[in-house]
Amino acid sequence: MGKGESSLPVDKKYKLYEASVQNHMADIEFIQDEFKALRGRKPKTLREDFGGTGAMACDWVKEGKENRAWAIDLDPEPVYYGKENHYTRLNDEEKTRMEYVMGNVLDDYDMKNDVTVAFNFSYFIFKKRAELLKYFQQVRKNLNGDGAFFVDIFGGTECFQEMVEETEFKKHSYFWDCDRYNPLTNEVLYYIHFKTKGEKYEKVFTYDWRHWTVREITELMEEAGFSKVVTYWEGEDEDGDGDGEFFQSNEEENCESWVTYIVGLV
Ligand SMILES: C[S@@+](CC[C@H](N)C(=O)[O-])C[C@H]1O[C@@H](n2cnc3c(N)ncnc32)[C@H](O)[C@@H]1O
Repeated sequence: MGKGESSLPVDKKYKLYEASVQNHMADIEFIQDEFKALRGRKPKTLREDFGGTGAMACDWVKEGKENRAWAIDLDPEPVYYGKENHYTRLNDEEKTRMEYVMGNVLDDYDMKNDVTVAFNFSYFIFKKRAELLKYFQQVRKNLNGDGAFFVDIFGGTECFQEMVEETEFKKHSYFWDCDRYNPLTNEVLYYIHFKTKGEKYEKVFTYDWRHWTVREITELMEEAGFSKVVTYWEGEDEDGDGDGEFFQSNEEENCESWVTYIVGLV
């Protein structure tokens, strides 16, 4: 989770992180609807890559008695938080269908699953084309014959500017800080800061990434052997803001800031 340098206690750090940047029940609903639309059946098995606290994987097993999930992350800190705060929400039967895997998403695994997800742009950590291609090939290898790979991605005119964006929540503020953007390499350095109870915690998370484009990801998924790649766009409410509803599209107008999904079909 791109560990930063702040003194924020671990449990507070991940609680604020999840409250600020995760909406995994909406993601789960999107996955279920789109997989059904694209594959004609309900998905049952999910692999949450870069899983962090694994909150999504834990809630996935609650969605159905046949659902099974894995969360893969190589950092023990978010995994520990996840086991303490999410795994404990499962009953004994549900726990038999959920597994935290301490490992590298580039490694080989023997599970075969319907859906793999890489959310919150975690795959941006792979800066070299060959590395990202290897990752996509590994993902495809572990998917069932009618499986699907879901990633999110962001963009827009504002996201290539060094700026700090503050989002206020009831009890805290979240700061998304684009500290450095290199136009010659598309490499970006982001920090997450939080303010809570009047105290500001700087650089709680650090992300040293390459900002990939939708076209590059589409081409890399095709190169990795995915038979079809579907791109999406978000609808607008009456104020022109995102309405949380995503539809298939491959032509849209740019705007200051957008987030969307890309799905690769085996
Ligand atoms: C941006 S966080 C995402 C967490 C969560 N998936 C989410 O949607 O909020 C990225 C996570 O990826 C993990 N990570 C980075 N490189 C990894 C790798 N090669 N294999 C497994 N996990 C990795 C980090 O430890 C961190 O927890």
